[in-house]
Amino acid sequence: MARYGVLATSINAMSKNLGELSGRKGLTENLFEELGIKAVRNGGTVAKDDIAELKTEYLLGAANIYGTVSFYDFLRPENQGKKVYVCNGSACLTAGTQPNLHHELGKHFEADEIGEMCCLGRCHENKAFSYNGLNYSGAAIDDMADIKASKKAVADHYHVACSGTQVLTGAFPGAATYYSDIADILRTASDALLAELKTSGLRGRGGAGFPIAFKLESCKNTPGTQKYIVCNADEGDPGAYSDRYLLEQQPHLVLKGMMIAGYIAGANMGVLYIRAEYPEAIAITQAAIDELRALGWLGNDIGGTGVDFDFKIIRAQGAYICGEETALLSSIEGQRPEVRVRPPYPTQHGLFNKPTVVNNVETLACIPYVVKHGGYAFAAVGRGRSTGTKLVSLDGFFNRPGIYEVDMGTPLRFVFAELGGGFRTEIKAMHIGGPLGGLVPTSKIDDLSIDFETFAQNGFLLGHASVVCLPAGFPIINYIEHLFQFTAHESCGKCFPCRLGSTRGYELVHKSLTSDYTIDKELFTDLLTTMEIGSLCALGGGLPLPVKNALKYFENELSPYFS
Ligand SMILES: Cc1cc2nc3c(=O)[nH]c(=O)nc-3n(C[C@H](O)[C@H](O)[C@H](O)COP(=O)(O)O)c2cc1C
Ligand code: SF4
Repeated sequence: MARYGVLATSINAMSKNLGELSGRKGLTENLFEELGIKAVRNGGTVAKDDIAELKTEYLLGAANIYGTVSFYDFLRPENQGKKVYVCNGSACLTAGTQPNLHHELGKHFEADEIGEMCCLGRCHENKAFSYNGLNYSGAAIDDMADIKASKKAVADHYHVACSGTQVLTGAFPGAATYYSDIADILRTASDALLAELKTSGLRGRGGAGFPIAFKLESCKNTPGTQKYIVCNADEGDPGAYSDRYLLEQQPHLVLKGMMIAGYIAGANMGVLYIRAEYPEAIAITQAAIDELRALGWLGNDIGGTGVDFDFKIIRAQGAYICGEETALLSSIEGQRPEVRVRPPYPTQHGLFNKPTVVNNVETLACIPYVVKHGGYAFAAVGRGRSTGTKLVSLDGFFNRPGIYEVDMGTPLRFVFAELGGGFRTEIKAMHIGGPLGGLVPTSKIDDLSIDFETFAQNGFLLGHASVVCLPAGFPIINYIEHLFQFTAHESCGKCFPCRLGSTRGYELVHKSLTSDYTIDKELFTDLLTTMEIGSLCALGGGLPLPVKNALKYFENELSPYFS
């Protein structure tokens, strides 16, 4: 244990040094951004000559840069020459639409021009693919010849509704009106704003449910002249598209939330790390930043308040683990995005080793409401320690798939039946809260409501509150195989329980599916326990949850595969 501690400390020190080197250029000539630009110019990957040039420019080793390049789906050599990408996320998988989509795309592209992406956030329509920097879903494939000729965008459609308090889904009044109070807010004592956030009980919506006020206070109290607010917009959980909704339809809620968070923490720079799989979200959020600048509410001495604030969007390059906050920071620094050992926490040593607060899109988007209506008003909504509202993403198995804003504590049955209009076919389980969330059998629907507590008490996880349905005919064993495969592909490789465990798990399940082999239940349980208690982060540590749920609730269906 002591040796592991020494190793972890020296790895952290190495990563800190690389962060310093990358920080020389920081966000203005950002290494990670450069890699993305060079990959596009080179047809999908970074050329060796480019690596040689960048290593000199950034004083890094070629191995460091190659280590970064080879990690990301959209930078690595295998990506070169790809023209169209099929979504391989969980919702499109259980919908069963992708084999036929692949076949149809094969009529327009060579086999080696077709790649994969995970996930495009089109879980409400399925048949999702990406072409020429735009996303398509639903019936779009039927117009492929036209799309290829015209490169036209085809809008997707999903329901948006609110059943209680409207924090995030209200009609936007226009930027001029929405920011008319920003100077007053930036003149309010930051301690008073922090107190409102404490009173509100606002907890992180990105999975862990950590109170935002603690992080802002910790960053505020850490000495430093340069601090950052980072918006985690790497919504990689298949089934979730609520962050996508906010960035595309309510970007100013997120931006204003970041400005206020920055003011409280003493940060003058907001970085939005947005996944490449959401090209429309990147474009719309950039347009919102430009609009804000045109209104004079960005830059130095905003509205004569003496407060400086600006934004930078970093386009991610396709790696689920970059949603983990420390991997995300390494990613922005252009390092291989391996999860960092904590402490130190990002609020002490964050981006380029500066104090940094990382928050989810939805968490940040709640801040303007808290500031406008007061912490008590927010805390009055919801139940227990789950205050405020939550966006829920419903997939294409509902009669009314979409994004629904509900008060925390709203019964799951109400969300599914009244808002989602019920299932359009027989469903046996729902995977709620992303790949690391619980696999909920339909018999448990009445035990759950949308809040952190009932999910935890019942052995599940609220997570992003995304819902991927498994229809009656979809074999649970195939879904377990998919989860192991996903984790093996996305593992950052830093700790062996996840790096090896996810691959071994996939191999065991795959072998049982393709031969007479039966899995030794004791061995399998050991594997899950090792991953659960030995993994450094919640990727390896979280995968056992849905697998254990499956073993518990679908024992009869799974028994032929185990001995
Ligand atoms: C494997 C993994 C993936 C994650 N993906 C995301 C993500 O896509 N978006 C997100 O906000 N948080 C994600 N998180 C959680 C972040 O590490 C972090 O807790 C969160 O960004 C903090 O913001 P919040 O307090 O507002 O939730 C992920 C965590 C893990 C372990
Ligand atoms: S659990 Fe997996 S993703 Fe997390 S640090 Fe370990 S290897 Fe990396």
